[in-house]
Amino acid sequence: MKRYVIAALGMILLLFACTSDELSNPLDDTLKATLDRTSPTGSLDGYILPDNDAYSSIPQDPQNPLFKEKVELGKMLFFETGLALSPIHEEGKGTYSCASCHIPSAGFMPGRVQGIADGGIGIGDHGENRGKSEHYKENELDVQGARPLSLLNVAFVENTSWSGQFGSNGANEGTELYWDNDPATEVNHYGFFGLESQNIEGLILHRMVVRKEVLDAYGYTPLFDSAFPDFPEEERYSEITASFAISAYLRTLFTTEAPFQKWLKGDKYAMNDAQKRGARLFFSKAGCYNCHNGPSLNNSENFYALGVKDLYQGEGAFNTDETDKRNFGRGGFTGQAEDMFKFKVPQLYNMHASPFYFHGSSKRSLKEVVEYFNTGIPENPNVPQENIAAFFRPLNLTDEEIDDLVKFLAEGLYDRNVDRYAPEEVLSGNCFPNNDLLSRIESGCE
Ligand code: HEC
Ligand code: HEC
Repeated sequence: MKRYVIAALGMILLLFACTSDELSNPLDDTLKATLDRTSPTGSLDGYILPDNDAYSSIPQDPQNPLFKEKVELGKMLFFETGLALSPIHEEGKGTYSCASCHIPSAGFMPGRVQGIADGGIGIGDHGENRGKSEHYKENELDVQGARPLSLLNVAFVENTSWSGQFGSNGANEGTELYWDNDPATEVNHYGFFGLESQNIEGLILHRMVVRKEVLDAYGYTPLFDSAFPDFPEEERYSEITASFAISAYLRTLFTTEAPFQKWLKGDKYAMNDAQKRGARLFFSKAGCYNCHNGPSLNNSENFYALGVKDLYQGEGAFNTDETDKRNFGRGGFTGQAEDMFKFKVPQLYNMHASPFYFHGSSKRSLKEVVEYFNTGIPENPNVPQENIAAFFRPLNLTDEEIDDLVKFLAEGLYDRNVDRYAPEEVLSGNCFPNNDLLSRIESGCE
C-alpha cells in the first residue's frame, strides 16, 4: 500500500515538474547565459554577495579580521553622535555622526546633493531636509566637494573615495610617491586596506574624538576590550581601533535581499520580466558591465571620466568651487594628466533611495542617468575629450530598452530592508544619526 502512495506521489511530483518546466520563462535562460559570459568567475556565483554574517567569505584586511564583537561595536560607533566632540562651535557638539552623511534609508548616502555633518541641522525623512545652521559660516561647515559615496557592499571597494586615494594595496601599489602630497593620504603609510585607512582619517576630518575617557563615560570600554584583546591597553582606545571596528561593520553591509540577488540564488520569481530584460541589457547591449562588474557591480581597478558636472556647477552645495581638488578625481590624488577627471566606478545597489547621481549630484533620476549614458555626450566642458572613457559613447537604446534598464536599476537592485543594519540604540543614549534639535524633532526623539 505504502509503495503505491509513494509511486502516486512521485507521479504527481513529475507532473508538477513538467508543468513548471512548460511555464519556464525563456528570459531566465537568456539572462543566465548572458551572465555566464560576463561573470568574472564564469558563472552566476560571480555576482552573489556574501551573507552579512559569513565573515570568512567577506573580503577583509588581514590586519583587521572580522568577528561579531568587532562588527557590533562598529555598528554603534558609526551612528554615535556622542563622538562629535570637536565641532567648530559649541552648538554642534554631540549633534552629528558618520551616518549624518551616510543614512541607511538613503542607501547610505546623504539624501541630498551634499552631506553636512558639523554645522548642519535637520534631517527630514531621509536627509532631504538637512540645511545650514545659522551659527556657522559657510566655510565652517563639515562638507566636501563631492557627493558622499554609498557604503553598501563597500567590502568590494579596494581603494576608497572617488579618487581611490586610500589604502596601500590594490590600485595604489606604486603610488607611494603621492602619499605625502596631502596630509589625508599620509595614513596610507600604516599599510592598511582602503577602508581601514580612510576611516582613521574620516574620524579626524569629521571632528570626532575617540579617547579612553570618552569611551569610559558612555560605557564603550568593555566593548573595545572584547573587540581588540590583542591590542596592548595603551593602543586599544584610539581612532585606529575605532576605524577598525567601523570598517568591520561596513564590510558586512550587503544588499542580499535585492530581487536580483534572490534571482541569482534561484528564486526565478524575484524579478519581473521588465527587470530581467533590463538586467540582460545591462550585461550586453548597454555595455554597463564593461565597467560595473562583480558582486557589487563596481570596479576596483580602473578609473574613468564620464565628463559629468562637478558639485559647484549645480545648485545647493556649500563651500566648493572650480579649484576643489575633488573635481579632478584620480588626478587630484596623483597629479598626473592622464588621471585627470577620472573617478571610481561605484557600486549600483539601492541607488533609487537617494536621487542625486554621480560625484557632482548632477542627475536627479535613474532615467536621467541611463539617458546620459545612452546619449554619450559629456556635459562638463572642463573635461578634455581625450580623457573621456572609450566605453562612454552612444548606445542606441530604444525608449522601451531605457525603461527596462531603469527598472532593473531602480527595483532589481533595491534591497528595501537595509534598515536592518542600523542599531537599536547607541551607548550615549543620544538621538542618531543626528542630534541637533530640529533633527531630534523630525526623527521623533523629542
Ligand atoms: C560631512 C559628510 C560626511 C561624514 C560626516 C562622513 N562621510 Fe564618509 N564620505 C563623505 C564623502 C563626501 C565621501 C566621498 C569623498 C571623496 O571621495 O572625496 C565619503 C566617502 C566615504 C567612504 C568611501 C567609500 C568608497 O566606496 O570609496 C567611506 C568608507 C566613508 N565615507 C566612511 C565614513 C565614516 C566611517 C564616517 C564617520 C567617521 C564618515 N564616512 C562620515 C561624506 C561624509
Ligand atoms: C566607462 C565605464 C562605465 C560604463 C560603461 C558605465 N559606467 Fe556607470 N559609472 C562609471 C563611473 C566612473 C561612474 C562615476 C562617475 C562620476 O560620478 O564622475 C559611474 C556612475 C554610475 C551611476 C551613479 C552612481 C552614483 O553613486 O551616483 C549609475 C547609476 C551608473 N553608473 C549606471 C550605469 C549604467 C546603467 C551603465 C550602462 C548604461 C553604466 N553605468 C555604464 C563608469 C561606467
